[in-house]
Amino acid sequence: MRLVVIGAGSMGAQIAQQAALCGVETWLSDTSAEQLQRARDSNRGHLMRRVEKGKLGKVEAEEALSRVRETTDLSEAASSADFVIEAVFEDLQLKRSVFAELDRAAPADAVLASNSSTMGISKIAGETTRPGRCVNMHFFYPVLVMDLVEVVRGPQTSDETVDRAMSLAREIGRTPVLINKEIDGFIVNRILHAATQEAYRLLDAGVAGFEDIDVAVEKGLNWPMGPFRLGDFTGLDVTYKARLHMYQSTGEERFRPSPKLEAKVKAGKLGRKSGEGWYSY
Ligand SMILES: NC(=O)c1ccc[n+]([C@@H]2O[C@H](COP(=O)([O-])OP(=O)(O)OC[C@H]3O[C@@H](n4cnc5c(N)ncnc54)[C@H](O)[C@@H]3O)[C@@H](O)[C@H]2O)c1
Repeated sequence: MRLVVIGAGSMGAQIAQQAALCGVETWLSDTSAEQLQRARDSNRGHLMRRVEKGKLGKVEAEEALSRVRETTDLSEAASSADFVIEAVFEDLQLKRSVFAELDRAAPADAVLASNSSTMGISKIAGETTRPGRCVNMHFFYPVLVMDLVEVVRGPQTSDETVDRAMSLAREIGRTPVLINKEIDGFIVNRILHAATQEAYRLLDAGVAGFEDIDVAVEKGLNWPMGPFRLGDFTGLDVTYKARLHMYQSTGEERFRPSPKLEAKVKAGKLGRKSGEGWYSY
């Protein structure tokens, strides 16, 4: 089994490392050599912290690190792939051109999966000669910790491809769920967005402050983080753009981003990464 991951950013680096931890020979490809180096350093940091905590053997960690091979040459990596997972920037034209290139380079029976959070595979698979072997596999950040993969089939995805995607997710130690129809936000983000929208409605209506809403959700629903703390963690710009995308693509009022959220983003208060969002860091 040879896995190839395209894009060595936040997601791709850890998808590759998670697979390697489970014994899968993996290639990680990015157009940027610096990014590949950053991915390697970051993965080493994560694994060595596990070693320090006694959760992983030193030898096992070194083996898992060396099982990820890096290259800036996508075609070289894809030429012997059984399975490819694309995790490049969330840009439709880019993804389409990467899929066209993968289709030319990868063996005809290789599966081509996209980790996109918002783009159903039907928007991308038309660039290939194998739409039946294309599928979405949506991982969660941080992949080394989050045990879920949403496998989303497009209208042309074959049963065999779905089975192979579900099996791969299990093989790399992750729990897959199958989504039979392409739908914006898949399952998790739809439920998260609905709950988060309600939290913002309560805030905008002056029903409660954001700290109290967070505490209510954390203590009452047992979520590890309330919606405002979680927003700070993932980036309020990410939350805002996701809401705006849903609002613009559906035209439904229930998805309109909260004015308070919009104000935070316009003021550059994006959460942890900018030092301040709903909370200060
Ligand atoms: N960040 C998240 O929380 C998250 C969660 C689930 C899914 N996703 C999805 O995963 C994908 C990647 O997101 P990310 O946050 O890892 O992005 P990122 O910006 O951290 O990384 C993207 C990487 O793609 C590389 N890249 C760009 N063009 C390339 C090409 N032609 N060939 C090879 N590499 C190329 C870039 O150099 C960069 O390293 C997106 O589709 C996103 O929707 C992200």
